Amino acid sequence: MADSDELLERARCAAESSYCPYSRFRVGAALLCSDGTVFTGTNVENRSYGLTNCAERSAVFSAVSAGRRDFQAMAICTPDSESAVAPCGACRQVLSEFAGEDFPVTFAGEKQRVDTTLGQLYPYDSLHDLRGKN
Ligand code: THU
Repeated sequence: MADSDELLERARCAAESSYCPYSRFRVGAALLCSDGTVFTGTNVENRSYGLTNCAERSAVFSAVSAGRRDFQAMAICTPDSESAVAPCGACRQVLSEFAGEDFPVTFAGEKQRVDTTLGQLYPYDSLHDLRGKN
């Protein structure tokens, strides 16, 4: 089972595949599954800027496309930033579809690292309460 340091290293490697000709800002994400499998993702930009896909969602969509939903933790690396860059709101919501409030999220730049949980990043999420009620 990968620990958070290993997962962050996987995220750092994933950032090397970033397609970011518009922002020049590489992001890598690594998503750990319960059997130790790690799915990675990177940001993929587009000349129609709004079509850009973040690294976090790339990792989630890759894992779900492979039939996996048993997510244990995520790490995100922004090697072009000294400070840690937190996942955007869209990625927080997408993660919340598959992970609960205790889900560990680590994000790190070159000089700062934050270890937190999805519940801290995306509080008052009612999805899991609503499940089965509609
Ligand atoms: N980006 C991510 O991949 N994840 C985040 O959480 C924040 C932003 C990407 C989108 C875009 O390609 C670049 O970083 C600059 O915003």
